[in-house]
Amino acid sequence: MKIKVAIPERGETEIEARSGWTVMEALRDAGIPIAARCGGGCACASCHVHIDPAFFGKLAPVSEDETDLLESSDHYDVGASRLSCQIICDDALDGLALSLQPDSLED
Ligand code: FES
Repeated sequence: MKIKVAIPERGETEIEARSGWTVMEALRDAGIPIAARCGGGCACASCHVHIDPAFFGKLAPVSEDETDLLESSDHYDVGASRLSCQIICDDALDGLALSLQPDSLED
């Protein structure tokens, strides 16, 4: 599946992602500078992305732990925010569009 990625102040790109991987893993594998400090453990929120409205409703529901972490972000948007390590790539999400947030960029 393909993922369209917008990076603050660096423009947009498109990556290829393997089904079954998390979106965070796909971003890292493609060299996107996402911090993801806890390595996908749903414990840091530094893999926070905003999901395009056309795809947000297609994602699996947000867990309570994920919501708690997202709410700690200055860039939290209840209708767009997700942790990219909690989204599994699937062909049904082909074309998924997302934007990294300032708190999810590598230092
Ligand atoms: S990588 Fe830490 S919560 Fe996603």
